[in-house]
Amino acid sequence: MRVLSGITASGIPHIGNYFGAIRQHVALQETAREAIYFLADYHSLTSVRDAAQRRGFVRTQVLDYLACGLDPKRAILFRQSDVPEVCELQWILSTVTPMGLLERGHAYKDKTAQGAAMDHGLFAYPVLMAADILLYHANVVPVGQDQKQHLEMTRDIAARFNHIYGEVFVLPEPMIQGDVAVVPGIDGRKMSKSYGNTIRMFDDEKAVKKAVMAIVTDSTPVEDPKDPGAVVFQLWNLFAAPEERREMAERAKRGGLGYGDVKKDLLARLLATFGPMREKRAALEREAGLVEDVLADGARRARALAAPVLDAARAATGLGAPPAA
Ligand code: TRP
Repeated sequence: MRVLSGITASGIPHIGNYFGAIRQHVALQETAREAIYFLADYHSLTSVRDAAQRRGFVRTQVLDYLACGLDPKRAILFRQSDVPEVCELQWILSTVTPMGLLERGHAYKDKTAQGAAMDHGLFAYPVLMAADILLYHANVVPVGQDQKQHLEMTRDIAARFNHIYGEVFVLPEPMIQGDVAVVPGIDGRKMSKSYGNTIRMFDDEKAVKKAVMAIVTDSTPVEDPKDPGAVVFQLWNLFAAPEERREMAERAKRGGLGYGDVKKDLLARLLATFGPMREKRAALEREAGLVEDVLADGARRARALAAPVLDAARAATGLGAPPAA
């Protein structure tokens, strides 16, 4: 199985990003035949309008992934725009993509419903995403639930191309990252940068402690039974083995367990998990040239996989010089 996914996260990563995506991406480098990840800077053109900011996001995301254990020898990590062939494939695919398909896109419909100004890049975003996936013959694409429709569009576009020009593309399967429980924020809503309710992965001890202490709890007295589904338990569970979780739920229901004690233990587990990553990240950040070296190697390997696929698409459509007789 060849796994591929695009990384668009911007800003400072929090534990919701880790448990929702990063951890799974890293784990797949062990189990997939190939794990291919790229920083989707072409896609970011549709929202970020500042060059330095775009470059900064790419650098930050590479450091984040390396700190979390992505091994660039095993996985291929590259910057999307280092393999501009994807834009050629996007054009080819766009000529077999029905307007209606794009008009039914959730992202497009939401934006238009809000009366937002739509540019062609946003409208065509799913075609670039299809090109990302099809260019590498990826068969498994780990994404969040919100990207499911984009995967369906990719399959439709690939099938249409194959129908018209002959079998060139592999139809990918989504791997929905939904088995990980939605990570609640410290206020109980979904953890999200925009709600300001996050616990950041790479914050120092003091800042992590502050966030943990701010997790909402009710005023149930220590001796009374607690709801094992309370936010603080949900967060604690992320760091516990199934057996430990069962025990904790029992203790909660029995009473006599204070939220403060759970928070203290959660803090210890957070620091044990993310402290070493924070240190690793700081060390990586000091290594001059590291990020660009990793990306250059990733681009070289990505291109080697992409070249025969693009050649096949060009040959099937009759682009370029005819094959030698
Ligand atoms: N659109 C995806 C997101 O917002 C990112 C992405 C771009 C992607 N190209 C991709 C994901 C290809 C999987 C495969 O999360």
